[in-house]
Amino acid sequence: MATLINPPRDPNTLSNYNNWICTHTTANFEIFFEQKKLIGNVIHKLRSITNAETEEIILDSNHVDIGEIQVAGSPAKWELLPPLGPYGTALKIKLDQPVKLDEIIDVNISVQTTEKCTALQWLTLAQTSNKKHPYMFSQCQAIHARSIFPCQDTPDVKCTFDFNITSPLPVIASGLPVRDAPSTPQPGVKSLYQFHQKVPIPSYLFALASGDIAEAPIGPRSVVATSPDKLQECQWELEADTERFIKTIEKIIYPYAWGEYNVLILPPSFPYGGMENPVFTFATPSIISKDRENVDVIAHELAHSWSGNLVTSASWEHFWLNEGWTVYLERKILAAIHGEKYRDFSAIIGWKALTDSVEHYGHDHEFTKLVPTLKGEDPDDAFSTVPYEKGFTFLFHLEHLLGKEKFDHFIPHYFTTFKGKSVDSYEFKSTLLDFFESDAEASKLLQDLDWDAWFYKPGLPPKPDFDTSLADVVYELAKKWKSLPESSFQPQSSDIQDLTANQIVVFLEQVLLERPLTADLSKLMGEIYGLAKSENIEVANLYLQVGLKAGDKSVIEPTADLLGRIGRMKFVRPLYRTLQKVDRQVAIDTFEKYKDFYHPICRGMVEKDLFGKKDA
Ligand code: BES
Ligand code: ZN
Repeated sequence: MATLINPPRDPNTLSNYNNWICTHTTANFEIFFEQKKLIGNVIHKLRSITNAETEEIILDSNHVDIGEIQVAGSPAKWELLPPLGPYGTALKIKLDQPVKLDEIIDVNISVQTTEKCTALQWLTLAQTSNKKHPYMFSQCQAIHARSIFPCQDTPDVKCTFDFNITSPLPVIASGLPVRDAPSTPQPGVKSLYQFHQKVPIPSYLFALASGDIAEAPIGPRSVVATSPDKLQECQWELEADTERFIKTIEKIIYPYAWGEYNVLILPPSFPYGGMENPVFTFATPSIISKDRENVDVIAHELAHSWSGNLVTSASWEHFWLNEGWTVYLERKILAAIHGEKYRDFSAIIGWKALTDSVEHYGHDHEFTKLVPTLKGEDPDDAFSTVPYEKGFTFLFHLEHLLGKEKFDHFIPHYFTTFKGKSVDSYEFKSTLLDFFESDAEASKLLQDLDWDAWFYKPGLPPKPDFDTSLADVVYELAKKWKSLPESSFQPQSSDIQDLTANQIVVFLEQVLLERPLTADLSKLMGEIYGLAKSENIEVANLYLQVGLKAGDKSVIEPTADLLGRIGRMKFVRPLYRTLQKVDRQVAIDTFEKYKDFYHPICRGMVEKDLFGKKDA
């Protein structure tokens, strides 16, 4: 008798993962820099989880070239289903005979990536730091793994991995190196690099990078890897904080589970601030600001080693369980090291970003819900600050509701309960309710909580009370600037000399609110405070926004210049949006000039922003 199988929880996969679960994947690839291709095969061990005796396996795939497919050692028939928007062309593999419940079969797929692959960026010599060797790296989150190899591309399935990667240049992957690998790598000579990931991971955490990469220690269990000419400055930036962040969060939850915690600093076209690939966080070089002021990105990616990588949101609809928890933990690390008011200061920055996102989408927009419906949507389109900051606000609210001490006890309980699993918002809720079941007072508070409003009401949640002590000074300074030219305020460089870079960021955000400055005042601010030339890109970026919005034509060139030096979407997308309002032709020309520099994901998003699709 056939079992009834519930529809899968993840609407953004075409795979029939309610029939099969992948338990282990072996990825064998050779990296061909000249052809900009990976060529090889993947072997998935699939376990049947139904006694419906399904005779087909459906995997996600997009823009890959598939060769022979073998099931249990024999060639199998397969076809690609018609393309379905961002979800790609599902791969349907026919089985000769039904497979019984719990039986495991090996599916071996020969595959090559194509030039349409959205997960990989290939850099030519000219595009790299020391211009000597080519470079390649992957970015699979959210649903780009399927453009490297056919797989169950859903965060609801996790498996262990083996990586066997042949390359003429050093390779990094999201597993621990197999140390007794046969050959010592020689630059320019093809070598086999092997890695193993023994903790089950979802497909979006599959990661590869290869190029002229060297490593230096930044802690007892950590190295930073980057281009040899940048190694020292990267080491300096990270060595003071990495281990103390790890120790701090281990006290909040439980010991780090992945062996080593390393950071790869990528070329500037890396489209995100950071990506929590297990064993090796991938990070933008824009965090190397020579002031150690952007290391909160490292605290964030490290925190994902628990929230996201061990306990994974079951679908992109429950993404707040990855990012909201991670922001919450990142700020707990900051609080433990620098004091509570730093946590609130960071939360103030986050609240501002949340209000910007909600304004941008509109207060009724689906994507402003904590748990949005993403059926038919591209998760990259739904990506915004909302799951991060609404998620944080929700957890911060729960902490205040229950009291810090009680909530602190729940944290390790939650991460133990779902360790190695995927989780949705309903399981989060029931785990919290169960944990406090015997505590009458806490139970009552949780019963009375308007869960539906938190999960499904669009727009802003209630604003928490924050300690504003670190923000007040900069609010005052911003007020003074806004009072010009009527007031007698005389700006001086000493106004900002005691401020941290993040305080300057908050200052500039305040200046950006409501009425823009005049072009003259904006220029004056840039000169007196030396903002345009700041090494801290967060500061430089916001100052350009101030200048553009003030109509100061002299910032157009530096803006275009910055857009050719950094491919991090957090800066690139808003800068193009503002630039096109000031001078659309310059925006278009700049994009034409630099589009090959950007990662395919970034290129695609900016194309949407500049040339169409209003939601993006
Ligand atoms: N996992 C995200 C990056 C991501 C999200 C990539 C969704 C693709 C799809 C990562 O942990 C992240 O949140 N990075 C932030 C940095 C952080 C300090 C908020 C970023 O890239 O800005
Ligand atoms: Zn994150």
